[in-house]
Amino acid sequence: MKIKNICCIGAGYVGGPTMSVFALKCPDINFIVVDISEEKINAWNNYDLKKLPVYEPGLKEIIAQTRNKNLFFSTDIDEAIKKSEMIFMSVNTPTKTKGEGKGMAADLRFVESCAKRIGEVSNKNKIVVEKSTLPVRTAEKIKEVLNTHNSDKKIKFEILSNPEFLAEGTAINDLLKPDRVLIGGDNSGSGKEATQLLVELYKKWIPKEKILTTNIWSSELSKLVSNAFLAQRVSSINSISAICEKTGANIEEVSKAVGMDSRIGSKFLTSSIGFGGSCFKKDILNLVYISEYYGLKKVANYWQQVIDINNYQTNRVFDKVCDALNLRSQIKRSICILGWAFKKNTNDSRESASIYLTKQLLEIGVQVNVYDPMVKKNKIFNDIETVFNTHNSDNLETNLKSVNLNVLNSAYAASKNSSAIIICTEWDEFKTLDWTSIYDSMEKPSWVFDGRNIIDDYKLLKLGFKTFKIGKS
Ligand code: NAD
Ligand code: UGA
Repeated sequence: MKIKNICCIGAGYVGGPTMSVFALKCPDINFIVVDISEEKINAWNNYDLKKLPVYEPGLKEIIAQTRNKNLFFSTDIDEAIKKSEMIFMSVNTPTKTKGEGKGMAADLRFVESCAKRIGEVSNKNKIVVEKSTLPVRTAEKIKEVLNTHNSDKKIKFEILSNPEFLAEGTAINDLLKPDRVLIGGDNSGSGKEATQLLVELYKKWIPKEKILTTNIWSSELSKLVSNAFLAQRVSSINSISAICEKTGANIEEVSKAVGMDSRIGSKFLTSSIGFGGSCFKKDILNLVYISEYYGLKKVANYWQQVIDINNYQTNRVFDKVCDALNLRSQIKRSICILGWAFKKNTNDSRESASIYLTKQLLEIGVQVNVYDPMVKKNKIFNDIETVFNTHNSDNLETNLKSVNLNVLNSAYAASKNSSAIIICTEWDEFKTLDWTSIYDSMEKPSWVFDGRNIIDDYKLLKLGFKTFKIGKS
């Protein structure tokens, strides 16, 4: 088989950037990224590159070089499937909200509907690549759906697992220079051939020693395990931050000292208000569910703790704010949230700690003023709407949240007349704010709760602020 056209179903945070880099590095192949969302496809096709649906440093420059040359965005899913020899499935796999495994297992609805469509419209052999993060043994299910829905029994589908390891905010660099590329395929002749075709594509820009081929189940499971290990490090250091605050130890010093052990390493040891993002929580919940499914209760309990500590960390910050400002005493207060994205350099706010913190503040009647450099106002309102609807349906609270939430267009406007600022995202621009004028415009006493430890404490104290930093007494 010669690969001339590749289709990617799902034009989200993974599909868009991943195919852009593929298109850049494989100029002799056409890449068609398709989605059911017309709005998203229109945004990917927007002439103004600032209006792409995903903000990632370096992305718009690649889109400028490839779009409408060998990279296309379309809503014509059937046509793209028919044309392509290889199809990436890069659709969302959120946590199930109903049915068996509710709140734990991955919802495979979108993956199944892609497989059904591929099965129905395919008129030649296809290599179907799992790019989405999936529970171990999903490939079995996908194959079954493909075969059930294809009437021509001569057509062969080869399934590969090729999980994505990019992190948002650094996606382009991660795609250009990944630590490794993982490809899982089955051991049959055609399975090996399909694996090799994908290996050859990646070899156009990635050294071959970084391309790891495994069996399909190892590949699926490794993706979940990688995210679980990364999240576990964040929860580990966050749990230690609580001990630091009690004992006078300093979390940054502890983190540095521990990370200098080459066996441990220094990355992913930055204490924070809690990890967010669309994947850590859902992938660990999925791992917990799989462990339980196989009767491995102790394993399930072990990984559940990573999530519990993460919730504990965000709640701990909420409690600190309440105690310092005596918030439960009914006195009306305004609080400024700086940063809504779950980390810097992305416009993604899925599972951001800021959402949960804001919800708790709104619930006790606090006026919340938010500023984020990249997350749009309607997204912020939508996040709050969703979290209230998902976690309770009390109408009184629904009213409170809309009355008391404001989204402002600068850190200065959001902090004006507030009693406290909570830094939720480590955006670089927060480091260079004019803290003197912020102090002058705030209610007194003025607090800064630095949930990312990015501002020099001494500077703030000298200006008159009261401060709280994670992991520092
Ligand atoms: P996303 O929500 O940004 O994008 C998914 C897209 O798929 C959406 O635009 C949706 O409209 C589309 N879609 C759903 N069903 C469809 C269908 N039947 N046909 C066509 N389009 C359909 O999600 P994402 O962040 O890109 O994540 C995709 C997958 O990649 C998930 O499994 C995730 O766990 C995994 N992943 C995400 C990241 C990340 O940084 N976001 C990194 C690595 C892996
Ligand atoms: C993470 C993984 O890093 C990627 O390898 C993986 O592909 C991706 O999930 C996925 O499967 O979706 P991402 O969630 O985009 O990527 O971003 P991370 O850099 O991992 O950060 C996740 C969260 O942890 C952020 O809220 C971040 O602020 C927080 N974090 C990270 C810390 O609090 N401390 C750290 O030391 C590192």
